[in-house]
Amino acid sequence: MPVLIRSEAFDSTPISLGTVEKTGARLLDRYGLEQAELSILLVNDKRMAELNQFYRHKSGPTNVLSFPMPSGETQTGGTMLGDIVISVDKARREAELRNISCHRRIERLLVHGFVHLLGYDHERSPQDAEIMLAEENKIIDYLSKHQRRNGMVNLAINVDHVATLRQARGINEPDPVTAAGICELAGAGGIVVHLREDRRHIQDRDVVLMRQMVKTKLNLEMGASEEIIKIALDLKPDMITLVPEKRQELTTEGGLDVAGQVTRLKEVVDRMREASIPVSMFIDPESKQIKAAREAGATFVEIHTGRYSDAANEDEADREFELIAAAAEEAYESGLRVNAGHGLNYLNTSRVAALDTIEELSIGHAVMARAIFVGLDQAVREMLALLF
Ligand code: PXP
Repeated sequence: MPVLIRSEAFDSTPISLGTVEKTGARLLDRYGLEQAELSILLVNDKRMAELNQFYRHKSGPTNVLSFPMPSGETQTGGTMLGDIVISVDKARREAELRNISCHRRIERLLVHGFVHLLGYDHERSPQDAEIMLAEENKIIDYLSKHQRRNGMVNLAINVDHVATLRQARGINEPDPVTAAGICELAGAGGIVVHLREDRRHIQDRDVVLMRQMVKTKLNLEMGASEEIIKIALDLKPDMITLVPEKRQELTTEGGLDVAGQVTRLKEVVDRMREASIPVSMFIDPESKQIKAAREAGATFVEIHTGRYSDAANEDEADREFELIAAAAEEAYESGLRVNAGHGLNYLNTSRVAALDTIEELSIGHAVMARAIFVGLDQAVREMLALLF
Protein backbone atom coordinates (compact mmCIF):
# COMPACT_ATOMS: atom_id res chain seq x y z
CA MET A 1 0.00 0.00 0.00
CA PRO A 2 1.73 3.21 -1.10
CA VAL A 3 -0.52 5.40 1.05
CA LEU A 4 -1.08 4.46 4.66
CA ILE A 5 -3.93 6.48 6.04
CA ARG A 6 -5.19 6.59 9.58
CA SER A 7 -7.59 8.82 11.44
CA GLU A 8 -7.58 9.63 15.12
CA ALA A 9 -9.94 12.54 14.56
CA PHE A 10 -12.98 10.62 15.72
CA ASP A 11 -14.68 13.62 17.30
CA SER A 12 -14.05 15.92 14.30
CA THR A 13 -15.92 16.54 11.06
CA PRO A 14 -16.31 13.19 9.31
CA ILE A 15 -14.33 13.16 6.12
CA SER A 16 -13.88 10.46 3.52
CA LEU A 17 -10.58 8.71 4.20
CA GLY A 18 -10.83 7.16 0.74
CA THR A 19 -10.79 10.60 -0.91
CA VAL A 20 -7.73 11.72 1.07
CA GLU A 21 -5.97 8.43 0.37
CA LYS A 22 -6.58 8.82 -3.35
CA THR A 23 -5.18 12.34 -3.33
CA GLY A 24 -2.07 10.97 -1.60
CA ALA A 25 -1.74 8.27 -4.27
CA ARG A 26 -2.06 10.85 -7.05
CA LEU A 27 0.65 12.97 -5.47
CA LEU A 28 3.01 9.98 -5.47
CA ASP A 29 2.00 9.32 -9.06
CA ARG A 30 2.66 12.89 -10.12
CA TYR A 31 6.28 12.63 -8.95
CA GLY A 32 6.87 9.11 -10.26
CA LEU A 33 7.05 7.85 -6.68
CA GLU A 34 4.58 4.98 -7.02
CA GLN A 35 7.03 2.69 -5.22
CA ALA A 36 7.35 5.02 -2.24
CA GLU A 37 5.14 4.95 0.81
CA LEU A 38 3.43 7.92 2.31
CA SER A 39 1.78 7.95 5.70
CA ILE A 40 -1.13 10.30 6.40
CA LEU A 41 -2.55 10.76 9.87
CA LEU A 42 -5.68 12.81 10.57
CA VAL A 43 -5.98 14.12 14.10
CA ASN A 44 -8.05 16.55 16.14
CA ASP A 45 -6.79 19.87 17.53
CA LYS A 46 -5.87 18.41 20.90
CA ARG A 47 -3.57 15.79 19.43
CA MET A 48 -2.12 18.28 16.95
CA ALA A 49 -1.30 20.68 19.79
CA GLU A 50 0.57 17.88 21.60
CA LEU A 51 2.57 17.02 18.47
CA ASN A 52 3.29 20.68 17.75
CA GLN A 53 4.60 21.15 21.28
CA PHE A 54 6.66 17.98 21.25
CA TYR A 55 8.30 18.34 17.84
CA ARG A 56 8.37 22.09 17.27
CA HIS A 57 8.12 23.47 20.81
CA LYS A 58 5.20 25.61 19.69
CA SER A 59 1.96 25.86 21.60
CA GLY A 60 -1.48 25.34 20.11
CA PRO A 61 -2.53 23.27 17.12
CA THR A 62 -1.18 23.90 13.64
CA ASN A 63 -2.92 22.74 10.48
CA VAL A 64 -0.31 20.38 9.03
CA LEU A 65 3.00 18.82 10.07
CA SER A 66 5.33 16.79 7.88
CA PHE A 67 8.05 14.43 8.95
CA PRO A 68 10.39 13.44 6.11
CA MET A 69 12.04 10.06 6.31
CA PRO A 70 14.90 10.34 3.82
CA SER A 71 16.42 6.91 4.21
CA GLY A 72 13.42 4.94 5.38
CA GLU A 73 13.11 1.57 3.72
CA THR A 74 9.75 -0.20 3.45
CA GLN A 75 9.10 -3.92 3.81
CA THR A 76 8.72 -4.17 0.04
CA GLY A 77 12.10 -2.57 -0.61
CA GLY A 78 10.67 0.82 -1.60
CA THR A 79 11.25 4.04 0.23
CA MET A 80 9.22 5.63 2.98
CA LEU A 81 8.75 9.25 1.99
CA GLY A 82 7.49 10.31 5.39
CA ASP A 83 4.47 11.23 7.48
CA ILE A 84 1.97 14.01 7.06
CA VAL A 85 -0.26 14.87 10.00
CA ILE A 86 -3.32 17.06 9.45
CA SER A 87 -5.66 18.54 12.02
CA VAL A 88 -9.19 18.04 10.73
CA ASP A 89 -10.54 20.58 13.26
CA LYS A 90 -8.18 23.27 12.05
CA ALA A 91 -8.81 22.34 8.41
CA ARG A 92 -12.55 22.66 8.97
CA ARG A 93 -12.22 26.15 10.48
CA GLU A 94 -9.94 27.26 7.67
CA ALA A 95 -12.39 25.82 5.12
CA GLU A 96 -15.24 27.81 6.66
CA LEU A 97 -13.21 31.01 6.45
CA ARG A 98 -12.48 30.36 2.78
CA ASN A 99 -15.99 29.14 2.01
CA ILE A 100 -14.73 25.86 0.61
CA SER A 101 -15.33 22.26 1.62
CA CYS A 102 -13.28 20.64 4.37
CA HIS A 103 -12.08 18.08 1.81
CA ARG A 104 -10.74 20.84 -0.43
CA ARG A 105 -8.85 22.40 2.49
CA ILE A 106 -7.43 19.04 3.53
CA GLU A 107 -6.29 18.51 -0.04
CA ARG A 108 -4.42 21.83 0.05
CA LEU A 109 -2.82 20.95 3.39
CA LEU A 110 -1.86 17.54 2.10
CA VAL A 111 -0.15 19.15 -0.88
CA HIS A 112 1.66 21.56 1.43
CA GLY A 113 2.86 18.71 3.63
CA PHE A 114 3.85 16.65 0.62
CA VAL A 115 5.94 19.42 -0.90
CA HIS A 116 7.73 19.70 2.45
CA LEU A 117 8.52 15.99 2.27
CA LEU A 118 10.07 16.60 -1.14
CA GLY A 119 12.52 19.03 0.47
CA TYR A 120 10.90 22.40 -0.17
CA ASP A 121 10.82 24.69 2.86
CA HIS A 122 9.08 28.06 2.99
CA GLU A 123 10.68 28.84 6.34
CA ARG A 124 14.24 28.95 4.93
CA SER A 125 13.91 32.30 3.15
CA PRO A 126 11.33 34.46 1.33
CA GLN A 127 12.74 33.14 -1.94
CA ASP A 128 12.25 29.55 -0.80
CA ALA A 129 8.71 30.45 0.25
CA GLU A 130 8.01 31.69 -3.27
CA ILE A 131 9.47 28.57 -4.87
CA MET A 132 7.48 26.30 -2.56
CA LEU A 133 4.22 28.14 -3.21
CA ALA A 134 4.76 27.90 -6.97
CA GLU A 135 5.27 24.13 -6.67
CA GLU A 136 2.13 23.77 -4.53
CA ASN A 137 0.08 25.71 -7.05
CA LYS A 138 1.40 23.54 -9.84
CA ILE A 139 0.26 20.42 -8.00
CA ILE A 140 -3.15 21.85 -7.15
CA ASP A 141 -3.58 22.65 -10.81
CA TYR A 142 -2.52 19.10 -11.72
CA LEU A 143 -4.94 17.59 -9.20
CA SER A 144 -7.84 19.66 -10.43
CA LYS A 145 -7.20 18.35 -13.94
CA HIS A 146 -6.44 14.77 -13.02
CA GLN A 147 -8.23 14.03 -9.82
CA ARG A 148 -11.59 12.85 -11.12
CA ARG A 149 -11.78 9.20 -12.06
CA ASN A 150 -14.79 10.26 -14.07
CA GLY A 151 -13.45 13.34 -15.84
CA MET A 152 -15.32 16.55 -15.12
CA VAL A 153 -18.66 16.23 -13.40
CA ASN A 154 -21.53 16.82 -15.78
CA LEU A 155 -24.38 19.16 -14.93
CA ALA A 156 -27.81 17.96 -16.05
CA ILE A 157 -30.60 20.47 -15.57
CA ASN A 158 -34.11 19.37 -14.72
CA VAL A 159 -36.59 21.74 -16.44
CA ASP A 160 -39.80 20.35 -14.88
CA HIS A 161 -40.35 23.54 -12.91
CA VAL A 162 -40.61 25.62 -16.06
CA ALA A 163 -43.46 23.36 -17.10
CA THR A 164 -45.03 23.67 -13.64
CA LEU A 165 -45.23 27.44 -14.10
CA ARG A 166 -46.75 27.01 -17.54
CA GLN A 167 -49.34 24.55 -16.30
CA ALA A 168 -50.30 26.91 -13.47
CA ARG A 169 -51.80 29.19 -16.14
CA GLY A 170 -52.82 26.51 -18.56
CA ILE A 171 -51.29 28.43 -21.46
CA ASN A 172 -48.18 27.87 -23.56
CA GLU A 173 -45.49 29.75 -21.67
CA PRO A 174 -42.91 29.55 -20.25
CA ASP A 175 -41.85 26.74 -22.53
CA PRO A 176 -39.59 24.05 -20.98
CA VAL A 177 -38.29 23.27 -24.47
CA THR A 178 -36.89 26.80 -24.82
CA ALA A 179 -35.53 26.49 -21.27
CA ALA A 180 -33.70 23.29 -22.25
CA GLY A 181 -32.05 25.15 -25.15
CA ILE A 182 -30.94 28.02 -22.91
CA CYS A 183 -29.52 25.55 -20.35
CA GLU A 184 -27.51 23.81 -23.06
CA LEU A 185 -26.20 27.11 -24.44
CA ALA A 186 -25.10 28.07 -20.92
CA GLY A 187 -23.05 24.86 -20.67
CA ALA A 188 -25.35 22.24 -19.16
CA GLY A 189 -24.32 18.77 -20.24
CA GLY A 190 -27.77 17.24 -20.14
CA ILE A 191 -31.48 17.89 -19.77
CA VAL A 192 -33.75 15.96 -17.41
CA VAL A 193 -37.54 15.82 -17.56
CA HIS A 194 -39.95 13.76 -15.52
CA LEU A 195 -42.96 12.66 -17.54
CA ARG A 196 -45.40 11.90 -14.76
CA GLU A 197 -48.43 9.72 -15.17
CA ASP A 198 -50.66 12.60 -14.08
CA ARG A 199 -48.86 14.98 -16.51
CA ARG A 200 -48.79 17.65 -13.86
CA HIS A 201 -45.91 19.49 -15.48
CA ILE A 202 -44.06 17.98 -18.45
CA GLN A 203 -46.39 17.05 -21.34
CA ASP A 204 -45.98 14.50 -24.12
CA ARG A 205 -45.37 17.29 -26.63
CA ASP A 206 -42.45 18.56 -24.51
CA VAL A 207 -40.58 15.27 -24.56
CA VAL A 208 -41.16 14.81 -28.28
CA LEU A 209 -39.77 18.28 -29.06
CA MET A 210 -36.89 17.89 -26.62
CA ARG A 211 -35.94 14.58 -28.17
CA GLN A 212 -35.50 16.51 -31.41
CA MET A 213 -33.71 19.57 -30.10
CA VAL A 214 -31.60 18.49 -27.12
CA LYS A 215 -28.03 18.26 -28.36
CA THR A 216 -26.38 17.01 -25.20
CA LYS A 217 -28.25 14.20 -23.47
CA LEU A 218 -31.93 13.76 -22.74
CA ASN A 219 -32.62 11.88 -19.53
CA LEU A 220 -36.26 10.85 -19.13
CA GLU A 221 -37.17 10.45 -15.49
CA MET A 222 -40.14 8.11 -15.06
CA GLY A 223 -42.06 5.70 -12.92
CA ALA A 224 -42.02 2.11 -14.15
CA SER A 225 -45.63 2.11 -15.38
CA GLU A 226 -46.54 0.36 -18.62
CA GLU A 227 -47.86 3.53 -20.27
CA ILE A 228 -44.67 5.50 -19.65
CA ILE A 229 -42.41 2.54 -20.52
CA LYS A 230 -44.06 2.41 -23.95
CA ILE A 231 -43.58 6.14 -24.44
CA ALA A 232 -39.89 5.82 -23.51
CA LEU A 233 -39.34 2.93 -25.90
CA ASP A 234 -40.88 4.98 -28.65
CA LEU A 235 -39.13 8.23 -27.76
CA LYS A 236 -35.67 6.73 -27.28
CA PRO A 237 -34.17 9.24 -24.84
CA ASP A 238 -30.42 8.99 -24.24
CA MET A 239 -31.17 7.35 -20.91
CA ILE A 240 -34.02 6.88 -18.47
CA THR A 241 -34.01 7.25 -14.71
CA LEU A 242 -36.48 5.10 -12.85
CA VAL A 243 -37.99 6.85 -9.84
CA PRO A 244 -40.80 6.00 -7.43
CA GLU A 245 -43.89 7.98 -8.28
CA LYS A 246 -46.76 8.81 -5.98
CA ARG A 247 -49.62 11.03 -7.10
CA GLN A 248 -49.81 12.97 -3.82
CA GLU A 249 -46.13 13.88 -3.53
CA LEU A 250 -44.87 17.39 -4.32
CA THR A 251 -41.63 16.04 -5.79
CA THR A 252 -39.94 12.62 -5.84
CA GLU A 253 -39.76 11.54 -2.22
CA GLY A 254 -37.22 8.90 -1.24
CA GLY A 255 -35.38 6.54 -3.53
CA LEU A 256 -36.74 3.66 -5.52
CA ASP A 257 -37.02 0.41 -3.57
CA VAL A 258 -35.02 -1.61 -6.09
CA ALA A 259 -34.32 -4.38 -3.59
CA GLY A 260 -38.05 -4.98 -3.18
CA GLN A 261 -38.72 -5.41 -6.93
CA VAL A 262 -35.56 -6.68 -8.62
CA THR A 263 -37.37 -9.12 -10.93
CA ARG A 264 -39.86 -6.51 -12.14
CA LEU A 265 -37.17 -3.86 -12.70
CA LYS A 266 -34.92 -6.34 -14.47
CA GLU A 267 -37.72 -6.81 -17.00
CA VAL A 268 -37.84 -3.05 -17.58
CA VAL A 269 -34.05 -2.92 -17.97
CA ASP A 270 -34.15 -5.79 -20.47
CA ARG A 271 -36.80 -4.02 -22.56
CA MET A 272 -34.80 -0.80 -22.51
CA ARG A 273 -31.65 -2.67 -23.42
CA GLU A 274 -33.30 -3.99 -26.55
CA ALA A 275 -33.95 -0.37 -27.53
CA SER A 276 -30.36 0.60 -26.53
CA ILE A 277 -31.57 2.86 -23.72
CA PRO A 278 -29.34 2.81 -20.61
CA VAL A 279 -31.21 2.72 -17.31
CA SER A 280 -30.45 4.62 -14.14
CA MET A 281 -32.14 3.92 -10.81
CA PHE A 282 -32.72 6.69 -8.28
CA ILE A 283 -31.81 5.15 -4.94
CA ASP A 284 -31.14 6.12 -1.36
CA PRO A 285 -27.46 5.81 -0.40
CA GLU A 286 -27.78 2.23 0.85
CA SER A 287 -25.67 -0.79 0.10
CA LYS A 288 -28.70 -3.05 -0.29
CA GLN A 289 -30.14 -0.82 -3.05
CA ILE A 290 -26.80 -0.62 -4.86
CA LYS A 291 -26.49 -4.39 -4.93
CA ALA A 292 -30.09 -4.72 -6.13
CA ALA A 293 -29.50 -2.15 -8.91
CA ARG A 294 -26.53 -4.23 -10.08
CA GLU A 295 -28.64 -7.34 -9.98
CA ALA A 296 -31.41 -5.68 -11.97
CA GLY A 297 -28.89 -4.75 -14.66
CA ALA A 298 -28.88 -0.95 -14.24
CA THR A 299 -26.11 0.97 -15.98
CA PHE A 300 -26.32 3.92 -13.58
CA VAL A 301 -27.57 4.68 -10.14
CA GLU A 302 -28.54 8.18 -9.13
CA ILE A 303 -27.80 8.63 -5.45
CA HIS A 304 -30.55 10.54 -3.66
CA THR A 305 -29.02 13.63 -2.04
CA GLY A 306 -32.29 14.82 -0.49
CA ARG A 307 -31.52 13.94 3.13
CA TYR A 308 -28.12 15.64 2.84
CA SER A 309 -29.71 18.72 1.29
CA ASP A 310 -32.48 18.90 3.89
CA ALA A 311 -30.20 18.32 6.90
CA ALA A 312 -31.21 20.45 9.86
CA ASN A 313 -27.65 21.18 10.96
CA GLU A 314 -24.02 20.76 9.96
CA ASP A 315 -23.49 17.50 11.83
CA GLU A 316 -26.45 15.90 10.17
CA ALA A 317 -25.28 17.17 6.76
CA ASP A 318 -21.82 15.71 7.43
CA ARG A 319 -23.30 12.35 8.35
CA GLU A 320 -25.52 12.29 5.28
CA PHE A 321 -22.62 13.38 3.08
CA GLU A 322 -20.54 10.47 4.32
CA LEU A 323 -23.35 8.09 3.41
CA ILE A 324 -23.46 9.55 -0.10
CA ALA A 325 -19.65 9.36 -0.46
CA ALA A 326 -19.59 5.75 0.72
CA ALA A 327 -22.53 4.73 -1.49
CA ALA A 328 -21.01 6.44 -4.54
CA GLU A 329 -17.72 4.66 -3.87
CA GLU A 330 -19.40 1.28 -3.47
CA ALA A 331 -21.52 1.73 -6.60
CA TYR A 332 -18.55 2.92 -8.64
CA GLU A 333 -16.35 0.09 -7.44
CA SER A 334 -19.09 -2.42 -8.29
CA GLY A 335 -19.05 -1.24 -11.90
CA LEU A 336 -22.08 1.05 -11.87
CA ARG A 337 -21.88 4.57 -13.25
CA VAL A 338 -22.87 7.06 -10.58
CA ASN A 339 -25.04 10.17 -10.74
CA ALA A 340 -26.50 12.12 -7.85
CA GLY A 341 -29.21 14.66 -7.25
CA HIS A 342 -32.21 16.10 -5.44
CA GLY A 343 -32.30 19.23 -3.38
CA LEU A 344 -28.81 20.34 -4.39
CA ASN A 345 -28.34 24.11 -4.31
CA TYR A 346 -25.67 26.79 -4.60
CA LEU A 347 -24.37 26.13 -1.08
CA ASN A 348 -24.29 22.36 -0.84
CA THR A 349 -23.37 21.20 -4.35
CA SER A 350 -19.57 21.72 -4.43
CA ARG A 351 -18.99 19.11 -1.79
CA VAL A 352 -20.90 16.45 -3.71
CA ALA A 353 -19.33 17.52 -7.01
CA ALA A 354 -15.88 16.96 -5.47
CA LEU A 355 -16.59 13.22 -5.14
CA ASP A 356 -14.67 11.82 -8.06
CA THR A 357 -16.86 8.74 -8.33
CA ILE A 358 -19.79 10.90 -9.43
CA GLU A 359 -20.29 11.45 -13.11
CA GLU A 360 -23.32 13.70 -13.23
CA LEU A 361 -25.44 15.89 -10.99
CA SER A 362 -29.12 16.41 -11.70
CA ILE A 363 -30.32 19.78 -10.45
CA GLY A 364 -33.62 21.55 -11.00
CA HIS A 365 -35.30 23.59 -8.33
CA ALA A 366 -32.35 25.66 -7.10
CA VAL A 367 -31.37 26.71 -10.61
CA MET A 368 -34.92 27.63 -11.60
CA ALA A 369 -35.45 29.54 -8.35
CA ARG A 370 -32.31 31.59 -9.02
CA ALA A 371 -33.22 32.01 -12.67
CA ILE A 372 -36.27 34.05 -11.68
CA PHE A 373 -33.93 36.73 -10.35
CA VAL A 374 -30.78 36.49 -12.46
CA GLY A 375 -31.97 34.79 -15.64
CA LEU A 376 -31.66 31.15 -16.61
CA ASP A 377 -28.40 31.50 -18.52
CA GLN A 378 -26.63 33.08 -15.54
CA ALA A 379 -28.18 30.68 -13.03
CA VAL A 380 -26.82 27.69 -14.98
CA ARG A 381 -23.39 29.30 -15.37
CA GLU A 382 -23.20 30.07 -11.65
CA MET A 383 -24.00 26.45 -10.84
CA LEU A 384 -21.43 25.23 -13.34
CA ALA A 385 -18.79 27.44 -11.72
CA LEU A 386 -19.31 25.56 -8.46
CA LEU A 387 -18.58 22.20 -10.00
CA PHE A 388 -14.94 22.67 -10.88
N1 PXP B 1 -33.14 13.68 -9.45
C1 PXP B 1 -34.38 13.14 -9.37
C2 PXP B 1 -34.49 11.67 -9.53
C3 PXP B 1 -35.51 13.93 -9.14
O1 PXP B 1 -36.73 13.38 -9.03
C4 PXP B 1 -35.34 15.33 -9.02
C5 PXP B 1 -36.54 16.21 -8.82
O2 PXP B 1 -37.35 16.22 -9.92
C6 PXP B 1 -34.05 15.86 -9.13
C7 PXP B 1 -32.96 15.01 -9.31
C8 PXP B 1 -33.78 17.33 -9.04
O3 PXP B 1 -34.10 17.77 -7.78
P1 PXP B 1 -34.15 19.32 -7.48
O4 PXP B 1 -35.26 19.87 -8.31
O5 PXP B 1 -34.44 19.37 -6.02
O6 PXP B 1 -32.83 19.88 -7.87
